Amino acid sequence: MRTAVLISGRGSNLAALIDACRRPGARAEIALVISNRPDAAGLQHARAAGIPTETVDHRRFETREDYDRHLSDRFEAHRVALVCLAGFMRVLSGWFAERWRDRLLNIHPSLLPAFPGLDAHRRALAAGVRFSGCTVHFVRAEVDAGPIVVQGVVPVRQEDTPETLAARVLQAEHRCYPVALDLVASGRVRVVDERVLIEDAAMPATILISPEPE
Ligand code: GRF
Repeated sequence: MRTAVLISGRGSNLAALIDACRRPGARAEIALVISNRPDAAGLQHARAAGIPTETVDHRRFETREDYDRHLSDRFEAHRVALVCLAGFMRVLSGWFAERWRDRLLNIHPSLLPAFPGLDAHRRALAAGVRFSGCTVHFVRAEVDAGPIVVQGVVPVRQEDTPETLAARVLQAEHRCYPVALDLVASGRVRVVDERVLIEDAAMPATILISPEPE
């Protein structure tokens, strides 16, 4: 299934998706990478893999929806069927969320619905949670909300800083996003009453990830 990835920065999740999609049997293909920032380091991962890249600078557009309509046109031009947000630091319009409903995935570095928005790790530490993790979900108009496809769980350690927790969660992100993309690309994911159902008992609905102790 032809898939586009939207990035704004480092692109480590993009790199994980590219790697996974190159493995034999992968059901998604990364066909296009778009960044809103020309200097996004992640663009290099796509170029190195021979994947078409485009920079669509949001400052060239008058309204959010104008920008989103342009993105959508680019996806259609590349015959893209699925879109992954991977560190894309722009809020998308309700129009876009509807246009790509149930074909638009996001990854967020917390166990949603806890800690949506910015600064998730700092807020998780302040709340004293014992576990954190990441969530891959279908996008809805509300930020960091929508049916959950895959979650990865990591322990929170007493001595953690936002940076050490982010690094542990990032390992989980790199494992969860490829699994979620493959599940959706396989066509066996259905959204019923805003919950994700996986139509194959053999496929994992939940993934618990506890990385090796550091
Ligand atoms: C990740 O932590 C992701 O969960 C969040 O933004 C970060 C992007 O990192 N949405 P990268 O650009 O994929 O390395």
